[in-house]
Amino acid sequence: MKVLVTGGCGFLGSHVCEAFRKEGADVVAFDNMTKHELKRTGYGSDEVRDHNAKVLREMGVQVVKADIRNREELLDHAQGCSFLAHTAAQPAMTISWEDIDLDFSTNVAGTFNVLETARRHKAAVASCSSVHVYGPWVNDTLTEGATRYERKPVAIREDDPTMNGGKDGKISPLHASKAAGEHYVKTYADMFGVKAANFRYTGIYGPRQFGGEDHGWVANFAIRNLLGWPLTIYGTGKQLRDILYASDAAAAFVQYQRKPVAGTYNIGGGPGHMISLLECIQLIDKLSGTKSEVKFGPGRDGDLRYFVCDITRARNGFGWEPKVPPHEGVGKLLAWLRENARLFQGQPAVQAGTRSR
Ligand SMILES: NC(=O)c1ccc[n+]([C@@H]2O[C@H](COP(=O)([O-])OP(=O)(O)OC[C@H]3O[C@@H](n4cnc5c(N)ncnc54)[C@H](O)[C@@H]3O)[C@@H](O)[C@H]2O)c1
Repeated sequence: MKVLVTGGCGFLGSHVCEAFRKEGADVVAFDNMTKHELKRTGYGSDEVRDHNAKVLREMGVQVVKADIRNREELLDHAQGCSFLAHTAAQPAMTISWEDIDLDFSTNVAGTFNVLETARRHKAAVASCSSVHVYGPWVNDTLTEGATRYERKPVAIREDDPTMNGGKDGKISPLHASKAAGEHYVKTYADMFGVKAANFRYTGIYGPRQFGGEDHGWVANFAIRNLLGWPLTIYGTGKQLRDILYASDAAAAFVQYQRKPVAGTYNIGGGPGHMISLLECIQLIDKLSGTKSEVKFGPGRDGDLRYFVCDITRARNGFGWEPKVPPHEGVGKLLAWLRENARLFQGQPAVQAGTRSR
């Protein structure tokens, strides 16, 4: 089996490469080594993709520096592949309004190129979407508890009708580009019979995540706790997610490759893995033995204050479900951060901030 992982040197992509190597597959990590979303982290951002690439080479992964916006490069490197895992993206909401062209060309045109490559090579494909596609309308359905937002029913299904619009409806270019990518995935499945899936991921976290204010909030909080830097919460801190550990997130691709039933799937921790920002900071403080210095800023446009996946469709469709609970996963993340502390030297980041109009 040969598998190509777009964005293979990123956080999730590196775990997908590792998971397929463990399956005995030949793996190509296809990545343009961009560092856009790492610019404002303040820690060793020039080194971090190279770090993941080095780790992958040691696992026997073939690392290729190439761009999903160039279809010829994709067609060339995907020769002989039976499966494409599409994790490359512009993943940050803040950057999506600062550089709309980058967001569109990467998430829409890039995803289109990956699908066309899958069609021509007769490969199955799973593409990373995001719970962002639901839009922030979930915010209209919440009540506010002591440390978290709450909702009934707790978990949200892929076809939940309340996700189709409402009062609190500001969406960002990221919502649009991820939704457009999803439509193309569905089109390629419907019209061309490509075994193509959308994975609507919730917040993912784990080792090899160089999280900052733009992207990767669990790692951002953990890194800042260990470095002794202050962290900023935008909004109340009661925002809630069913966070998902990296190896669980990667396992969804392996499971899907075994049983590729085209469709759109929520991939999240589900009700058993719910945690709010405030609760996550408490957990990090407890596990690290150090109290985080927390500042508050105004809420950000387009922020989903709550998301918990109903994962029934993925469980029934290809037998996937998460295994690692937050306290265990955050402990593993902290252990990895301690071992790799040298990668995080630098200065506290310039605040990414709220939307500039
Ligand atoms: N991390 C999360 O919490 C989360 C949540 C929901 C969805 N997702 C989605 O999962 C996917 C992976 O996210 P991540 O956290 O690993 O992000 P990441 O930024 O760590 O990895 C993305 C990788 O894609 C590469 N890339 C970007 N543009 C490229 C291009 N034009 N050609 C080739 N490679 C390119 C980057 O260099 C990077 O290595 C993304 O689609 C993201 O939207 C992530």
